[in-house]
Amino acid sequence: MRIEEIRLQNYKCYKKLKISRIPAMAVFVGANGTGKSTLFDVFGFLKHCLTYNVNKAVQSRGGFQELVSREHRGETIIIEIKFRLNITGVERLVTYYLEIAEIDKSIIVNREILRYKRGAHGSPYHFLDYKAGKGYAITNEEDFTKENEELTKEYRELEANDILAIKGLGQFQKFKAANAFRNLIENWHLSDFHINKARGTKDAVGYDEHLSVSGDNLQLVAHNLFLNHKDIFQKIIKKMQERVPGISSIEPETTVDGRLLLKFQDGSFKDPFIDKYVSDGTIKMFAYLVMLFDPHPHPLLCVEEPENQLYPHLLTELAEEFRLYSRHGDQVFVSTHSPDFLNAMELEEVFWLEKRDGFTEIKRASDDEQISAYMLDGDKMGYLWKQGFLGRVNPK
Ligand SMILES: Nc1ncnc2c1ncn2[C@@H]1O[C@H](COP(=O)(O)OP(=O)(O)O)[C@@H](O)[C@H]1O
Ligand SMILES: [Mg+2]
Repeated sequence: MRIEEIRLQNYKCYKKLKISRIPAMAVFVGANGTGKSTLFDVFGFLKHCLTYNVNKAVQSRGGFQELVSREHRGETIIIEIKFRLNITGVERLVTYYLEIAEIDKSIIVNREILRYKRGAHGSPYHFLDYKAGKGYAITNEEDFTKENEELTKEYRELEANDILAIKGLGQFQKFKAANAFRNLIENWHLSDFHINKARGTKDAVGYDEHLSVSGDNLQLVAHNLFLNHKDIFQKIIKKMQERVPGISSIEPETTVDGRLLLKFQDGSFKDPFIDKYVSDGTIKMFAYLVMLFDPHPHPLLCVEEPENQLYPHLLTELAEEFRLYSRHGDQVFVSTHSPDFLNAMELEEVFWLEKRDGFTEIKRASDDEQISAYMLDGDKMGYLWKQGFLGRVNPK
């Protein structure tokens, strides 16, 4: 399953945005404040809506007046996501449409739709259609022997008008598209790695399968891999040996007072270094590998500015690692302002963000004839950026 298009209307700095033909690996380049984090937070917002309700998701982002694009307060906020999903052996393009309004100071779901085409002809059919807490979902959407009129509509009223219909219905396999979209949103992941949070001993209590947003549970996740996924742990060590000069092994260790630390062995010395004292780049590379070699990968992984603390040549390898992750059926979005990271990117993978009159536009590098021609001629994206070809954004 892959997201192919994102459309936003009145979502913060995105007054009107449409990004189409999104590849499995996409990189978003932009200066500070152009909206990279905001774009990723669309998924955070949807997850928040699913876990709690839309009102809570809106309030935790400062309320409707902060979330809606400036000077567009009377309008609705629209999030539309198109994804490819295999339904009865055919890769169909499914659209999820969500429209949120503020009416008399309360937040309501103005419209929520899931639609896709059933046949080669005709317009997309609504398999789920809700308005302010009332609507229907089709209970036999995978029965393609039936005509549209013969499908069974299950009408329902939700407990409140700020609850997503896919929250409840998405739990059932029979609502195929709702179920798939709900899973995507529930399992998307944001990585905004903070080196100082990742370092140091951690309480050894518990068991963490996934690396957290900041990476502060690195020791726990590594420990879990070390104990329960030895083959994966060994693969990570091998990659580390290839990439970080001197590293010969890494081992988690539980201290006498019940804490957990990581020991990094340098081939030149007898005693290992504990994670508190190894270089930033070493920890960061290790953390990314732990995240990317997750035994249960995330369907969508958004990574914030992976470049800090890493040497340029490591960025090239890291980029390749992200790409591999995306080729295994998952999708990776990366935000960056590093020309070195960009140098490792292919033409189709790069998008840039640019503000115009206070609102952000996103352009794709491959739509630019000049950039395309240079890339075809063997140039690299980071160099082109430095020379000012990617719009008006300048590298730091
Ligand atoms: N309601 C709004 N209307 C218009 N712009 C907004 C609104 N809320 C926030 N912004 C702007 O959106 C941008 C968000 O930037 P952000 O996503 O943090 O950028 P980046 O991650 O690229 O540094 C900021 O420039 C901010 O001023
Ligand atoms: Mg940001």
